[in-house]
Amino acid sequence: MTVIAVIGSLWGDEGKGKAVDYLAERADYVARFNGGNNAGHTVINDYGTFKIHLIPSGIFAKNVTGLIGGGVVIDPQVLIDEIEMLNKAGVDVDGRLWISPRAHIILPYHKILDGLYEEAKGAGATGTTRRGIGPVFADKVSYNGIRWSDFASDAFEKRLALQLEVKNKIITALGGEALSYEKIRDEYRGYYLKVKPYLKELFSLVQDGLKADKNFLLEQAMGTFLDTDWGTYPFVTASTTIPSAASAGLGIPPRYLTRVVGVTKAYTTRVGSGPLPTEITDTASAVYQQFGEVAATTGRIRRVGWLDLEIVRTAVELSGVTELCLTKLDVLSGLDELKVCTHYELSCQRARYADVDSYGLEQVQPVYKTVPGWKEDLSKCASFEALPLNARNYVQMIEEATGAPVKWIGVGPEREATIRR
Ligand code: GDP
Ligand code: IMO
Ligand code: MG
Repeated sequence: MTVIAVIGSLWGDEGKGKAVDYLAERADYVARFNGGNNAGHTVINDYGTFKIHLIPSGIFAKNVTGLIGGGVVIDPQVLIDEIEMLNKAGVDVDGRLWISPRAHIILPYHKILDGLYEEAKGAGATGTTRRGIGPVFADKVSYNGIRWSDFASDAFEKRLALQLEVKNKIITALGGEALSYEKIRDEYRGYYLKVKPYLKELFSLVQDGLKADKNFLLEQAMGTFLDTDWGTYPFVTASTTIPSAASAGLGIPPRYLTRVVGVTKAYTTRVGSGPLPTEITDTASAVYQQFGEVAATTGRIRRVGWLDLEIVRTAVELSGVTELCLTKLDVLSGLDELKVCTHYELSCQRARYADVDSYGLEQVQPVYKTVPGWKEDLSKCASFEALPLNARNYVQMIEEATGAPVKWIGVGPEREATIRR
């Protein structure tokens, strides 16, 4: 039995989707346990190119059963669209995708409230995905949530009516239009009928799987530094993102976790507001253009920065990363020199990530070293030895700084563009 958590070591978008798709070949179960459809995981394989928000990225492997744990929040329309998209692409999920009835549901008022808070914050906005994530988790922990299990009785109708009484007051007070109970009720009852065949309590399935020595792959959403507690609060997401979330979000006892794969980019990106110490702010610079990316969920332009070893090291320590999967090494090709942040200083003193809050992280001075780059196209490199010397040195530098071995290296977005060491 193996229980492998795949976690992002930055602010999301490290390439977890690709890593999970690659690693799923050896898994029996691939599970999502946190976050919601704020996630956008890119998978490029023989079936095509996919941006997946809710269904585990390992679903393409034929023998895999996909699980969406109770820790995930779900926008039903997004889920239904995703099931249809996969079925159309020839990936039949029927009978091998199970969703916990404990999972909370995103309702129209969550998305509206998300937008209202963002607008009220003005320049200080979080830059959320506006998918309703903060408000739905707030309702969950303040006992105001609605779960899939509520549809089995009239609990859904009762809870919805009560929630609308309160939410409509807030929405109209802030200049919005009141939502219709009947419209939402009918719409969501319709969703329930479509989702019902996939609902199943996961407790026995997970417990039996552990007893039968099955292999579990746990796919985190978001990244370490968007974690509500350990991230750059308040510029974070609303769920726990570190591996411990798999325990509550899926029902896997912590002692069963055998490995933690930390997915990290060869440089740094972030979407939305908040500190990014190694940020490259000159948007006209060649390196900004070279690192540039478009967000998978919202289509926003991702902010970019140099590799930040303080950040990756902290992620390795915090989540107990046993091995790293380094993505996008190919993107660095062509640069004469690369800047790498080794640590931070504040008032000429060493400052660790955990010692400062978000405000402090805006003030720290990243201390850089410059390392030589390489010109070669890496996309055809099939082994570590085939990489140019300076690329190999770059990988080894990450291993030395973090204490975690780099076991996989991404040299392109496709599943096969992966070097296994
Ligand atoms: P996730 O949210 O962690 O799954 O990451 P995203 O899919 O949001 O963003 C990662 C982006 O990097 C996607 O566009 C991937 O296709 C791409 N990607 C992943 N690994 C590699 C790699 O090794 N090389 C290149 N060039 N692109 C990669
Ligand atoms: P994946 O799983 C990158 C960011 C948003 C915003 C903050 C709060 O693809 O790595 P939210 O909508 O969650 O309330 O927004 O979190 N964010 C992500 N950034 N990748 C993600 O997911 C993200 N999910 C949320 O941009 O800054
Ligand atoms: Mg993403």
